[in-house]
Amino acid sequence: MTNFYTKKTIEHFRNPHNYGEIAQPDGKGDAGNIVCGDVMSLYIKVAKNKSGQEIIKEIKFKTYGCAAAIATSSVITDLAKGKTIAEALKISKADIIETLKGLPPIKIHCSLLAIDALSEAIYQFLIKKKRPIPSELQQKHERIVKSKQAIKERYHQWLSKK
Ligand code: FES
Repeated sequence: MTNFYTKKTIEHFRNPHNYGEIAQPDGKGDAGNIVCGDVMSLYIKVAKNKSGQEIIKEIKFKTYGCAAAIATSSVITDLAKGKTIAEALKISKADIIETLKGLPPIKIHCSLLAIDALSEAIYQFLIKKKRPIPSELQQKHERIVKSKQAIKERYHQWLSKK
């Protein structure tokens, strides 16, 4: 564990991979971080590989989160690209932190934003395709929806203060 951003984190923050939007995504995930109120959107395009397996062919993200949110999102897009849906759902906070060679403990919650946005993009893809939703993903989706609602309410309260 480190108390400062690693060289790798700074590299990803300064030059984030796969930053932007996909015009007609197969899935779009919006997630908000309940700790800080930051939000992000992640877009995926799914296609079959040579063995006929569906993989994440293209992936992009946008966020106004902090440096750690940008770096962790950049990493998750690298990790998810080329993976099957089932493999992408297994990407964990530990995988992201390991790739960045550490993250300050106070910034670990930022990595959840990227994980949640990827889960949501996959959830939306499965819904669109009328596929069954794994129960763990369904529970995650319900938690993410609640977090987004809480952030929205907090934002409205803050805006209405004089
Ligand atoms: Fe909000 Fe990092 S402080 S995502």
